[in-house]
Amino acid sequence: MDVQSLERTLADLPIGGLRYFERVGSTNDEAIKWAEEGASDLSIVIADEQTAGRGRRNRDWFTPAGAALAFSMVVRPPLYTNLDSSHPPQSPGSVSRLTALGALSISNALLERYDLYVKIKWPNDVLVDDRKLAGVLVETTWIGDQLTAAVLGMGINATPASVPAENSTTTPATCVETALGRQVSRLNLLQSVVTQVIKWRLHLDSDNFQQAWENKLAYRGEWVNINPENGIKDQPPAEGKILGLDQDGGLILRSREGHLFTLRSSAYRITPITSPLPAAADQSQKKLR
Ligand code: BTN
Repeated sequence: MDVQSLERTLADLPIGGLRYFERVGSTNDEAIKWAEEGASDLSIVIADEQTAGRGRRNRDWFTPAGAALAFSMVVRPPLYTNLDSSHPPQSPGSVSRLTALGALSISNALLERYDLYVKIKWPNDVLVDDRKLAGVLVETTWIGDQLTAAVLGMGINATPASVPAENSTTTPATCVETALGRQVSRLNLLQSVVTQVIKWRLHLDSDNFQQAWENKLAYRGEWVNINPENGIKDQPPAEGKILGLDQDGGLILRSREGHLFTLRSSAYRITPITSPLPAAADQSQKKLR
């Protein structure tokens, strides 16, 4: 990867600017700094290697040299075409829709360019065969209570060298090349993902976007375990059947007792229950475990 080939790759796309680092701490940090200095809408920071790549809940994100695709896009308000909708930029729904924008863009890019069908595990993981292939981290900059920019950070495991060790992650991981059984160009992948972000970004409040997101939702119609991350006080039911998404991007589930509930915070880890038992039988099984 070098700056000339990146410029060529992105030449036909209406991006705001480009900064390339052979090695950097985190592209999200650089993009936040640049946004605060006035970076234009759709500016991109990309790195071949990150030494302090960051994931959700401040986890490390592995980005060794020459192996992954790690980049961050500055998205300026208005984040939605209809600012008077029920999704003002400050709402939690707004960050979850941007997270979904990243995940959906990666998913669509993989499908359109490589015919690879992936799923989105709420809220931000891109999965193939239950293994994580990519993740999205959205962070925001503010002046007072005014949102000035969102930074959409995307990390895609492109080659086997970018896959973190099994014991270092909460979800087992894989990469695009392993899923396809052949080599891919990180530049082509980048171009496809950026194209998708640009395409969907002005339709975040549309029914089409909601539908596209819901269609890719992993474990829809299936029973999952819900594990609150450390320090979370709200205790939803321990298990639920995923029904879909609400308008704010919350995950709607049904409990074993038949109550509907919605997860809004990304502080819950969802894992599939591989062979769900009927409700009554499941309760008795639970006691035996
Ligand atoms: C997650 O799944 O927890 C989110 C991972 C996001 C990683 C990307 S890589 C590019 C950008 N820079 C970072 O430090 N993080 C994001």
